Amino acid sequence: MDARNVKTLIKNAQVVLPDEVAQVDVVIEGARIADIAPAAQLAVDETIDAAGLHLLPGVIDDQVHFREPGLTHKEDLEHASRACAKGGVTTFLEMPNTNPNTITVDRLHEKLELASGKCRVNYGFYIGATPDNVAELQAAERTPGIKIFIGSSTGNLLVDEQAALERIFAETTLPATAHCEDETTVRANAEKYAGTSDVADHSRIRDHRAALIATKRAIDLAKRHNHRFHVLHVSTGDETDLLADHGGLITGEACPHHLFFNTGDYERLGTLVQMNPSLKTAEDNERIWQALLDGRLQMIATDHAPHQLKEKQQPYPQSPSGLPAVENSLALLLNQVNQGRCSLQQVAHWMCDAPARVWDIVGKGRIATGYDADLVLVDLNKTAVILNEDQLTKCGWSPWDGESLTGWPVRTWVMGQQVFCDGKVDDSVRGREATYDHSRGGYWAG
Ligand code: DOR
Repeated sequence: MDARNVKTLIKNAQVVLPDEVAQVDVVIEGARIADIAPAAQLAVDETIDAAGLHLLPGVIDDQVHFREPGLTHKEDLEHASRACAKGGVTTFLEMPNTNPNTITVDRLHEKLELASGKCRVNYGFYIGATPDNVAELQAAERTPGIKIFIGSSTGNLLVDEQAALERIFAETTLPATAHCEDETTVRANAEKYAGTSDVADHSRIRDHRAALIATKRAIDLAKRHNHRFHVLHVSTGDETDLLADHGGLITGEACPHHLFFNTGDYERLGTLVQMNPSLKTAEDNERIWQALLDGRLQMIATDHAPHQLKEKQQPYPQSPSGLPAVENSLALLLNQVNQGRCSLQQVAHWMCDAPARVWDIVGKGRIATGYDADLVLVDLNKTAVILNEDQLTKCGWSPWDGESLTGWPVRTWVMGQQVFCDGKVDDSVRGREATYDHSRGGYWAG
């Protein structure tokens, strides 16, 4: 029998469907969800009794840095995609600040080719904007969209000049997204704090104003050019106030580190929690949560940005910005479900359905007949401690080391193939390239 056509019945799980959580049987056939609550008794190849567990759509993480090609001492596609499988992430969309940068169609296709042989989960790659690559941005097709570093971060990608930004928003049609921290503000602040070795100054250099100015600027560009735009890693409460209704053009996301860490954590974790945009205050944590709960922010993604521990442990500001998270993001949110902060359906919306809609990903994000069988079984009663030594990410550490969470992914399927079970990744499984139908019109089109 061809393994790709195996019929699997998942029985007795509480299934997180688009509109309800219900105990229904789910049938996987080959790479797709073939049926939900089948009417008749079925002949299947395999039955999984998932009593006591919840079945969710696989997580789609739309903001990761997996460092291949060029920076593979920090991370690579193999380690990172294994970490995804363990974390319940079945599709990732990766950023262009690799080496070389993904700023041409050729480079994009090279990365896709590289991923096809290695990735245990499904994959996609953004094309990065430069001040003068509009022709490449126009020609790119196999991509969720365009990534613009309006403020500089890790790497050398930056488009800060107004004329170049106007050109990108005016002359391209792919949805766009951006790292929003105002370069002028950051540079002026950096001069003020020149010579500092206190990592807490990172939040004074990359301050509230820097984030707010750049996000405002990007929203203004998107609105004037009627261009779909997604705000990455919102770090301030004030930015969430900008993200109300914009005629179906604008969406935004939060990262776990901006929900769970704040400037009070520098004392305990130092440069481990140095990232861009920087940590802000406990009040910002609270306002970002509120924005997720009331729908001004639609999505959660990690900005998984691995650096080696020895790189991170250099004194500030030699220490690089970014932290790994893809392996623990779902568990961090399931733990919040257990604490009553949000519902499982909200988590499925923020981490599965919303990213599929924002990036027009075909066949993903929901448990529905005909959708891809990218699925994750979670045990809301399982308690486990995050430990550096258990991390599958190549960098081998987590800022949540030592933290006990209740609610963990226990089994993951990618395109109908079981890729993670009983704590082990099946290294024979390969994911597929995500596909996009940008004529769908994004999140607000439904
Ligand atoms: O802290 C960050 N690190 N923020 C980014 O935007 C980039 C990332 C990286 O690639 O290291």
